[in-house]
Amino acid sequence: MCSPPKQMVLVRRVRNRPLDRGGVRECSSHVEPRPRQGPQSARSTCTLPHRPAAVPRFELPMSEIRSIEEAEFRQAMRNLASGVAIVATGTALERRGLTVSSITSICIEPPCLLVGISISSGTHDAILANGKFGVSLLAIDHQDIALRFAGRDGSKGVQKFDTAPWDQGVLDVPLLQSAVCALECVLHHYQVVGTHGVFIGRTVAARPGDGSPLVNCRGELRTLP
Ligand SMILES: Cc1cc2nc3c(=O)[nH]c(=O)nc-3n(C[C@H](O)[C@H](O)[C@H](O)COP(=O)(O)O)c2cc1C
Repeated sequence: MCSPPKQMVLVRRVRNRPLDRGGVRECSSHVEPRPRQGPQSARSTCTLPHRPAAVPRFELPMSEIRSIEEAEFRQAMRNLASGVAIVATGTALERRGLTVSSITSICIEPPCLLVGISISSGTHDAILANGKFGVSLLAIDHQDIALRFAGRDGSKGVQKFDTAPWDQGVLDVPLLQSAVCALECVLHHYQVVGTHGVFIGRTVAARPGDGSPLVNCRGELRTLP
């Protein structure tokens, strides 16, 4: 496949900010889950990613592509309504978790979700070490839990788990009992993009719950109308 025409490439040589902080580092972890047994296994066994024969590429170096300013990007992203979840891993005193809104479903076959976690977060390293994580989708009455797991009440590490009942699921990962839905994932793919680790989890269990989903939009935690 050929490269895009030069005039379509958004390039400013003035006010140029190098992209090293936002560049993509190669995958440092790729964990293949064990295929399920039985008749489902053929359908759900993961194959290598399908790649197009050729990927269109900008011919210019990344350092010459101007990205928008941080504040402008933040302002734009405030308009993206997203669900809110607790992503957690570990057992007993080693449990670690954080509030996330950067979570999305990316693929049905195999069933995968994606979450972006700051590399400075303690949970980031714990997930890499354990290779699995639980996702508890929060309800409107979980606002205090969302703030607690974001560290807003000063609690840290395993302390965060003190206020609500949790169980450990089939993968032995922490799941909030009252979650709108709880999912369990094995780490399928990991990649660093700038300040964040992008975790792709392959879902091996899902447990529906009750409640109206908590939504993060324009700096507020709210419910759906
Ligand atoms: C609504 C909301 C959404 C958040 N989403 C994310 C996110 O997607 N990724 C992330 O790294 N941090 C996110 N945070 C911030 C983390 O929850 C926060 O930094 C947390 O203290 C990290 O905890 P840890 O260091 O114990 O892992 C969010 C915070 C809030 C309040």
